[in-house]
Amino acid sequence: MSVFLPELKYGLDKLNPFLSAKAMDFHYNKHFVNYVNAANAIIKGTEYDSQSLRTIVKNSSGALFNNAAQVLNHEIFFNSIAPRETPVPPQVEALICKNFNSVAEFKEQLFRVASSHFGSGWTWLVLDPATRKLDLRNTVNAANPITEGLAVLLGLDLWEHSYYLDYQNRRPDYIKAFLDHIDWTYAERHYLRNTAK
Ligand SMILES: [Fe+2]
Repeated sequence: MSVFLPELKYGLDKLNPFLSAKAMDFHYNKHFVNYVNAANAIIKGTEYDSQSLRTIVKNSSGALFNNAAQVLNHEIFFNSIAPRETPVPPQVEALICKNFNSVAEFKEQLFRVASSHFGSGWTWLVLDPATRKLDLRNTVNAANPITEGLAVLLGLDLWEHSYYLDYQNRRPDYIKAFLDHIDWTYAERHYLRNTAK
């Protein structure tokens, strides 16, 4: 099986009050697990069975794309957050400052971009590996910028299932709380992975 549920690096109760244990339990053990199971049911016995998750996402469409991409999207999201925001590694801070002037301004822009998104989808911090420029992108439903040749350094889940139990209609509060729980080490890892010669 190519598609599997990644273990979380923190307990389901460790993000409270940003995300309660109950909300995390539904998000991880129900929604995430369902995407994994649905993707595996579709690829069973097909050429996709031996491919990596990222390859499947780049090469599939329809129901397989939707479920496989949602597995990748959630893997990125759950790795983009931490019980407490981590220090910004110097190399990432320099990159953020070059593209957004400061970490504070980056957060303001992320808040604006994510708040402007309508409906279910995602906000991403993306890197163009060719130019090493950073940008913020919204995508709808399951779409992921890796299909456009971009690398993803951070991801924010904007589907209602990610915040409704804790925030109901207050999505801006959820986005603000996300900004205080970023795991910058994930962004650094993926920056280095996508710029290695
Ligand atoms: Fe989600």
